[in-house]
Amino acid sequence: MRSSGLSLLVGALLASASPLKTSRYACQTALSCPEGTILVSKTDPSAHFTSVQDAILSLPNDNTTQTILILPGTYKEQVNVTRSGPVTLLGQTDDPNNATKNKVTLTWAQANHDNTGQAVDNVFSSVLTVAPTLESSYTGSGTTGYPVPEDTPFGNIDFRAYNIDFTNTWRDYSDGPAHAISFSRANGGFYHCGFYSYQDTVYVGKLGNAYFHKSIIAGQTDFVYGFGTAWIQSSEILLRNCGGGITAWKGTNTTFTNNYGVYIVDSTVKAANASIAPEIRGKCALGRPWNSQHRSIFARTSEDASIIPAGYIDWIVDGEGRLNKDTVMAEYKASGPGFNATGREDGNVTIVMDDKEYARYSSPARVFQYPDGRFGNIGWIDLSVDKN
Ligand SMILES: *[C@@H]1O[C@H](CO)[C@@H](O)[C@H](O)[C@H]1NC(C)=O
Ligand SMILES: *[C@@H]1O[C@H](CO)[C@@H](O)[C@H](O)[C@H]1NC(C)=O
Ligand SMILES: *[C@@H]1O[C@H](CO)[C@@H](O)[C@H](O)[C@H]1NC(C)=O
Ligand SMILES: *[C@@H]1O[C@H](CO)[C@@H](O)[C@H](O)[C@H]1NC(C)=O
Ligand SMILES: *[C@@H]1O[C@H](CO)[C@@H](O)[C@H](O)[C@H]1NC(C)=O
Ligand SMILES: *[C@@H]1O[C@H](CO)[C@@H](O)[C@H](O)[C@H]1NC(C)=O
Ligand SMILES: *[C@@H]1O[C@H](CO)[C@@H](O)[C@H](O)[C@H]1NC(C)=O
Repeated sequence: MRSSGLSLLVGALLASASPLKTSRYACQTALSCPEGTILVSKTDPSAHFTSVQDAILSLPNDNTTQTILILPGTYKEQVNVTRSGPVTLLGQTDDPNNATKNKVTLTWAQANHDNTGQAVDNVFSSVLTVAPTLESSYTGSGTTGYPVPEDTPFGNIDFRAYNIDFTNTWRDYSDGPAHAISFSRANGGFYHCGFYSYQDTVYVGKLGNAYFHKSIIAGQTDFVYGFGTAWIQSSEILLRNCGGGITAWKGTNTTFTNNYGVYIVDSTVKAANASIAPEIRGKCALGRPWNSQHRSIFARTSEDASIIPAGYIDWIVDGEGRLNKDTVMAEYKASGPGFNATGREDGNVTIVMDDKEYARYSSPARVFQYPDGRFGNIGWIDLSVDKN
């Protein structure tokens, strides 16, 4: 390791890992990082690794908190985190509170099939996968998806990513599932991150608890989907075109009451740019039921004119719709030109919730559960993310 300024700051502090005591700002902007921080760069000779996956593979298989700082650049690789102990990925940036200024991109170009049409499980397309085992990361098919063995352990208890873009560049239109991330049997927060693909961009699988804060999620078809629980706070949902819906969820029957689903809160849904906006005006659906127990709610979210008058749509397979009394395809205090109250009523698909109906879902503590069904599983959420 060369004795550059960088290595003095980060390299001198190796030894044992400790939790992120110093602020993330100091580490991301001035390279003043917690002791033991691992440095990744394609070009800086003082870096410990040139790929993020090599850094992940170097982590001890224990419960210590581990921090990885990634220097600016585009990293063409698939990253796979199976470790259960806390992991924080920091993208270096000059502007830790603005996802449009991110300088670190993890990228891969793959769908769930190759050019010959040979299909593989969706997980193999992911830029980032967080799950304890391969089987627990499978999407599978049918109303209940891949049957994950009962004795599978829980995976990462506290995964965090800050100021990183995850892009799957397989095609610039929907051409089969092409994940930016795949997140199952784990707890994790994504802060000021970007997720870019066209189909199935963000997958939150079984027992996945994923929190997104001031992030950007871009896609065309069913691009926020899964089985687990996702809370998308103060973020931008960008429509790159229309197809299926924005959300596609599969509910699960459990012995306890569950709130598995996706909650898009205080956010914005809009056309990705001014050239696509007129093409998709009045054509995009908020979501559709991947199975009858789909649950998604757009709460206090503004919607541009891209959204169809009815809001959500049914998903009809072999002439049969999936929508039934168990389906929760809802909005709560939605606003903007995309929210057409008459259209919602006439369409008879979208539930427009009142305070009482929304109460059960009105905070992360009310929706994030432990695997045994207890609510309040939020210790892993960084609530002071923007407090410097
Ligand atoms: C991490 O901690 C949990 C409980 O706190 C324990 O069950 C698990 O075995 C630990 N994992 C490792 C790899 O030490
Ligand atoms: C992020 O940067 C963009 C481009 O400069 C700017 O338009 C936007 O307002 C900024 N957002 C925030 C939250 O500061
Ligand atoms: C992730 O790594 C685990 C452990 O090596 C492996 O079993 C699994 O197949 C990997 N997942 C993917 C999607 O490649
Ligand atoms: C607008 O977004 C669409 C969909 O992602 C893309 O194909 C097009 O290149 C973008 N246009 C501009 C001017 O950025
Ligand atoms: C859940 O239970 C209901 C009622 O018994 C049933 O109709 C539905 O098919 C089940 N769904 C799944 C995904 O198992
Ligand atoms: C709202 O929806 C109704 C259909 O129920 C439609 O007639 C009307 O044109 C829509 N308004 C706008 C502004 O799209
Ligand atoms: C709305 O749909 C439900 C079934 O989902 C049906 O029972 C009800 O009659 C419909 N209401 C109207 C006004 O069409």
